[in-house]
Amino acid sequence: MTTTRTLDRTGPPAAGHRRPPGFVARWRARRAERDAWAAHHVFAQGITAEFREACTALRLCQYVSVAAGLTVRTPRVGAVHGGPPITLTVELMAGQEPGDFTSRENGPRLAHSLGGHGLRVETLASRWVRLIVLNHDPLRDSFGLPSLAVASGSEPVILGRTEDGITLGDAIADAGHIAVQGQNGSGKSALCYGLLSQLAAAPDVLVAGSDITGLLLGRAWDGTAHRAHQVTGTHHLEAHAVLLEDLVAEMDRRLATIPPRRDKIEPTPATPTVLVVLEEAPGLLRAADSLPKPKRGEGVPVAERIRTAVLRLLSEGRKAAFRVLMLAQRFEATAVGGGYARDQFALRLSFRVPADSLEMLHGTDARALGPEHANAAPGITYLSGLGRDCQRIRVPYLGDYGEYVDRVQQHGRRVQP
Ligand SMILES: Nc1ncnc2c1ncn2[C@@H]1O[C@H](COP(=O)(O)OP(=O)(O)OP(=O)(O)O)[C@@H](O)[C@H]1O
Ligand SMILES: [Mg+2]
Repeated sequence: MTTTRTLDRTGPPAAGHRRPPGFVARWRARRAERDAWAAHHVFAQGITAEFREACTALRLCQYVSVAAGLTVRTPRVGAVHGGPPITLTVELMAGQEPGDFTSRENGPRLAHSLGGHGLRVETLASRWVRLIVLNHDPLRDSFGLPSLAVASGSEPVILGRTEDGITLGDAIADAGHIAVQGQNGSGKSALCYGLLSQLAAAPDVLVAGSDITGLLLGRAWDGTAHRAHQVTGTHHLEAHAVLLEDLVAEMDRRLATIPPRRDKIEPTPATPTVLVVLEEAPGLLRAADSLPKPKRGEGVPVAERIRTAVLRLLSEGRKAAFRVLMLAQRFEATAVGGGYARDQFALRLSFRVPADSLEMLHGTDARALGPEHANAAPGITYLSGLGRDCQRIRVPYLGDYGEYVDRVQQHGRRVQP
């Protein structure tokens, strides 16, 4: 025994063998542990006090009348973890729901009181929830869209990522018509680059439409089966009216041939879902409005033809597997073919817009979100539809324009010989 001890002190320790710590070292470790616990306890008490104060201020509490007067009961805090991110387990009080902490009115205020940017809530067992204090905007970082293409319009395409980190997808065959608004450079076209590149290969999807800019549709689609159903530029505005009228004629043909015992067309490669893209729709209408009007009895003005066709596609297209994807800087009724046309969009996305534009497309519920969203970074949008309340998401970004062209050329469905 003695010999072994002597060897231990002089030679290097054997592999896997640790010398037992001396008394002083053990005492120091215990004390450090105690100090850490004490610090954590103080921290947890501080956070709990801040949480309770915030709950009182936001009326996430109950007032109980007792002999001594009125007391305030706030949700019980079970445990606090220092993080990052800081998390609190909280017991809901009677009548409370997890969403009460993260609602539009309470969420940001509660988060700011706790020194964070936002809050996420996770339901635990029974009436307990976990509140996670987010240190920074979860949508701050952009996320790339891998080069993928769906094999059918009934497969979901990636729309964006929510503040909870959930990737939202939706199948174009299920979605209603889609409205996208946003100021110059807010990310409307980039969203569509992502959507259209994912749909380019599907045999039961046809990407048709009108694009006066000629960037979203047109040249990028040369050589694909979709190109013949796209019109670009402002040189020949009547071609836009002709294309949209042809699409309406196809819609009427489909509606007249819906099989018995069916109330809608099932998309197939022979009758694909037609995605009618209307890039810069108000610009197209403005340009068409500026054309000389035909004399009375000599035909209908081009702008009127476009408005009528778009309205018909919007109001009757869904059953015939037609989906309209309209882009505008602002969805003002007069700019997009009337209030009735605007009401037909089931899925609505607003990139950076002034507060009144946000409310115009998403309703009065979105009023409180307006001031902050008016300065949103490119790629951040509010989405309503898909059975969700107005929700903030970040859309994927596939890179520069050349990447979009490459993906469409790589995946784009070719004409069958
Ligand atoms: N999801 C995104 N993530 C990161 N950056 C983005 C995203 N979307 C757009 N951007 C940036 O914003 C720029 C402008 O985007 P985009 O061309 O899509 O805007 P827009 O709304 O179509 O504008 P305009 O009304 O002028 O056509 C892009 O070149 C890109 O740098
Ligand atoms: Mg654009």
